[in-house]
Amino acid sequence: MLMPFLGRSLLDTRILSKTEVEAIFSRADHLARGLHDGVFRALRAPVVCCLFFEPSTRTRMSFQMASYRLGLDVLTMELSAGSSLSKGETLGDTVLNFAAMKPDVLVVRYGQSEELDQLLPHVGIPVINAGSGTMAHPTQGLLDAYTLRREWGSLEGKQVLIFGDVRHSRVARSNFDLLSKLGATVGVCGPETMMPLPEQMPGVRVFESLDEALPWADACMGLRIQLERHATKDLDVSAANEYHARYGLNPQRLDLLRPDALILHPGPINHGLEFSPEVIRDGRSRVLAQVGNGVVIRAALLSLILGLEVGT
Ligand code: CP
Repeated sequence: MLMPFLGRSLLDTRILSKTEVEAIFSRADHLARGLHDGVFRALRAPVVCCLFFEPSTRTRMSFQMASYRLGLDVLTMELSAGSSLSKGETLGDTVLNFAAMKPDVLVVRYGQSEELDQLLPHVGIPVINAGSGTMAHPTQGLLDAYTLRREWGSLEGKQVLIFGDVRHSRVARSNFDLLSKLGATVGVCGPETMMPLPEQMPGVRVFESLDEALPWADACMGLRIQLERHATKDLDVSAANEYHARYGLNPQRLDLLRPDALILHPGPINHGLEFSPEVIRDGRSRVLAQVGNGVVIRAALLSLILGLEVGT
């Protein structure tokens, strides 16, 4: 017997007759054909699936915001809470299971994971890296360069200083690549223990002191100390004060920056470490402009990957 399905609950298979099971299978066959040849994608918005295996505020929310602005549907999974990661499922299996649901694009953030580094190029649907270990944060690099390009028109011949914990920063790595590709010279400054090896940053100028580096810069970008990627996971008060005294941007050092220089930070900021609280209020700060540009850059990327018409 076939009861109408409209408005019914399904709490147990025992309530289904064989005919009803066949009706569900028949509908599934129809949908599988439709999903395969794209008919249903034309009826429904594409689905963006965001998997965040590390914490995030800006990247996660701006991918969601960008998706909604484009009229896309979004699914988001954060860390292990509420997922089967807490039951021991691997990151790789989690990604493969999401990919098997055939979203139109996957957005993935993760820590150091060779398993995912190797898997993500082969999942069969487009994947956007939303920050991976210390290796890459491509959309952050794009939005940083875009923020500077909107200010300057071109990055050709400009000098950009990146200071702080450069060694553990995926943002720095993506910026080295993009800024130099667009014609800028990159400089770095920070404690020796937080500097990449010279061969990891060809063409990058290394400054011994922030006081020497700041007058050189057309723009400077502060980075937080990525304690979660250090062997020692915390910083005592005296070490924090010493760090801020040597490598922190403070009111005295703001005076060393040129009047037209720009101040960037990918966030999150640790006030009192890389920036004193005054920095964010300085008229040269573009930190919140970066966040706004993050939505536009991510929308641009999603629309290009999905082949969406966005008008002229
Ligand atoms: N810049 C950045 O990646 O910030 P979130 O970690 O908050 O996403």
